[in-house]
Amino acid sequence: MHSWHKNKEIQNYINANLSTDLHSLLLKKSPFPEVSMQEIVQQIKGKQVAQKKFPFLLKDGIVFPPQLNLEQASSEKTALYKSEILKGNKFIDLTSGFGIDAYYLSKNFEEITLVEQNSELLEIVEHNWNVLDKKANFINQKLEDFLNENKETFDVIYLDPARRDLNKNKVFLLEDLSPNILEIQDKLLSISEEVIIKLSPLIDLKYLISVLKNISKIEIIAVKNDVKEIVVFLSKNYSGEIICKCVNLENDEKDFSFEINAEKHSEAEYSEPQRFIYIPNNTILKAGVFNLISKEFKLKKLHPNTHLYTSDAKIDNFPGRILEMEVVDSKQIKKKEQFNLISKNYPLKPEEIKKKYQLKDGGNQYLIFTQSKKGKIILKSV
Ligand SMILES: C[S@@+](CC[C@H](N)C(=O)[O-])C[C@H]1O[C@@H](n2cnc3c(N)ncnc32)[C@H](O)[C@@H]1O
Repeated sequence: MHSWHKNKEIQNYINANLSTDLHSLLLKKSPFPEVSMQEIVQQIKGKQVAQKKFPFLLKDGIVFPPQLNLEQASSEKTALYKSEILKGNKFIDLTSGFGIDAYYLSKNFEEITLVEQNSELLEIVEHNWNVLDKKANFINQKLEDFLNENKETFDVIYLDPARRDLNKNKVFLLEDLSPNILEIQDKLLSISEEVIIKLSPLIDLKYLISVLKNISKIEIIAVKNDVKEIVVFLSKNYSGEIICKCVNLENDEKDFSFEINAEKHSEAEYSEPQRFIYIPNNTILKAGVFNLISKEFKLKKLHPNTHLYTSDAKIDNFPGRILEMEVVDSKQIKKKEQFNLISKNYPLKPEEIKKKYQLKDGGNQYLIFTQSKKGKIILKSV
């Protein structure tokens, strides 16, 4: 680690420029001969990201890696949530990156190992963990080589693979990740009781279930209804039902857990809109648990392809939004009125509806354009 990180004057300069425009700063010459402006900006950028994503690192002496490593790192919020369910003796993170997951997930373990192929990144993490007074074995190796040489067993192996291909429009498969989990899953399960893999919300759950072995649980984790992670748990010798847990952090909504097979064996009941309308949160939509929700909460669904539910009496604990609404005629919608517009299973997008009816966005009232079994309908807040 460069000694300039300890220089008080440079640190003061970094702290004084936390809200400066970084593009214009990059055009300037560094005021310090021992460090380039690019290196200074990397530290400023790191602190800016840390303010939102990992405030526990806003401490004197912490060093930040290049932006890509900051982007790839988990947030403190999701890492902290994941840490609450883990406990054991030996924990290993095979793709430790900037080490945010490893820092939190290993909280309740005695012996901690971090494997990372990028030596500069691992050096930064080792330095930071010293500052934070957290102990671990740091191994700078490709995990495939580590696994070939390793003779130890673990309680938990954690992996957060990197995307090889940044083309977001492509359907993505586990083969597109580094490491390729499909090639190493047998090996991992032979040396650990539990293997936990973090994946992008874009991954298809049915595909995952068809290619991974010994899945005991899948967690869909959102923060404020924005799905951030799919976390898959593989357990040694497990052959029971797969549990899917939908979690919406920083929200009052209750978690919803179900057996994947129970959805396949459930049928929804249908009805035209009643007094209350239920909009499932994004973890429920990602899980595709559309029939079981109707059965479990005794709610009626509006249409096989409309994932909205209804009831006369209000049902609490629903994992989503509950609105009191009535069916209206399009003539009852006045121009210039303000609504939160929602379009579900309806031919027009919210933008097109806004234009057609000359409406304004926002406010506390909702307007939902959708379909029930009888056909197209409009629902308005009462
Ligand atoms: C998405 S990042 C991990 C972020 C981490 N969970 C965190 O919270 O900071 C993935 C990391 O895995 C590393 N990696 C990818 N393939 C690897 C391999 N075959 N062996 C070792 N490390 C690998 C990459 O260098 C990258 O730093």
